[in-house]
Amino acid sequence: MAACVLVFLCVDPMKLDVTKTRKDFPILEREVRPGVRLTYLDSTATSQKPLSVIQTMDDFYRMSNANIHRGVHSLAEESTTLYEGARERIAKFINSASARQVIYTRNTTESINLVAYSWARANLKQGDLVILTEMEHHSNLVPWHMLQAERGIELDFVPVTEDGLLDMETYKTLLSRSPKLVSFTHMSNVLGTINPAAEIIRLAHAAGAITLVDGAQSAPHLQVDVQDLDADFFAFSAHKMCGPTGIGVLYGKAALLESMPPFLGGGDMIREVKLRSFRANSLPHKFEAGTPAIAEAIGFGAAVDYLATLGMENIAAHEHEVTEYALERLEEIPGVKLFGPSADKKGGVAAFTLDGIHPHDVAQILDQDGIAVRAGHHCAQPLHEKFGIPATSRASFYLYNTKEEVDMLVNGIYKVKKMFG
Ligand code: ALA
Repeated sequence: MAACVLVFLCVDPMKLDVTKTRKDFPILEREVRPGVRLTYLDSTATSQKPLSVIQTMDDFYRMSNANIHRGVHSLAEESTTLYEGARERIAKFINSASARQVIYTRNTTESINLVAYSWARANLKQGDLVILTEMEHHSNLVPWHMLQAERGIELDFVPVTEDGLLDMETYKTLLSRSPKLVSFTHMSNVLGTINPAAEIIRLAHAAGAITLVDGAQSAPHLQVDVQDLDADFFAFSAHKMCGPTGIGVLYGKAALLESMPPFLGGGDMIREVKLRSFRANSLPHKFEAGTPAIAEAIGFGAAVDYLATLGMENIAAHEHEVTEYALERLEEIPGVKLFGPSADKKGGVAAFTLDGIHPHDVAQILDQDGIAVRAGHHCAQPLHEKFGIPATSRASFYLYNTKEEVDMLVNGIYKVKKMFG
């Protein structure tokens, strides 16, 4: 598995029954306006939620709602069991060696900030090098800009090639400058590029660096095995993988997490508090101050159950089939320029420009036919600057998307072209 970049190249997956899968998502039944059915091609921004997740959260509020870790009454125990049970299943989903290495956060952004505020502020000093890449989302840029301003750390960037891949030769050269941290996205939210994470991590470790993987886009789509990757930190969000907003995870190696100072202070993250001092709690509670997003964590558990039942290999294979078809069809359209590598090196993302027409206009006209795509810089402004464009339109595909929806998109783009003459 470690040698395989994409799961679908390595296994003979069972075919996902997309018609059946779509029935799990009530929102896909809705009309955006009378007679106009939703074609949702924006799962990279946030995925839709299956009934099992919606019902799990609804059941929690109807039947089990109580604060966790704080009471001995039956509901408090029930709520704590559900919350911690979800953590166990999320840990299993990414093959974490233990659940205590799975820290609940609000989202990937907060997970990365946790590392920047706790590990990095305890370990990095002026002049220390952090390596990032040119394809990072703002959430893996701005926390490091802030630390640079505060501490005087140095930042350098693995370049992105014209075809949307990381320039691994330059990466190796950067590593000769003994970085302390290499922090990179597993899968680009614009180019769709699936980076060779295991190789990047192996090389970083050989150079003595710690690694942080932004898994916001990979965890929803690929089988992630944090032990196989040997990632020191791995950050991801529930809402892009069929779960609710407001809950994410920072996975970390136990020794690192144990050595780190707390991030936020407050209830639950302490073992003991005196008027003038405190003793921090053990993992994972040390990093979970205050009443957390309880229903959301439980909903996240239901989301990973849902994905595991479908099978991540099957999900990846289905997305690959739809993405390959989408790239083929989009390439046929005169004036469309696609960004990122070929379908065998990317996940379900197709970012494009249409000659002479602003991406916002493209998205607005597609919306008239109920087709939801995102337009803008997708929180990756430096990457767009690199390609000399302010914005792209982006269609993204998940486990419920079909080739018919790709055809809708293609027809919609022809309609945009016609309207703009
Ligand atoms: N990171 C999210 C996106 O790419 C918001 O749309």
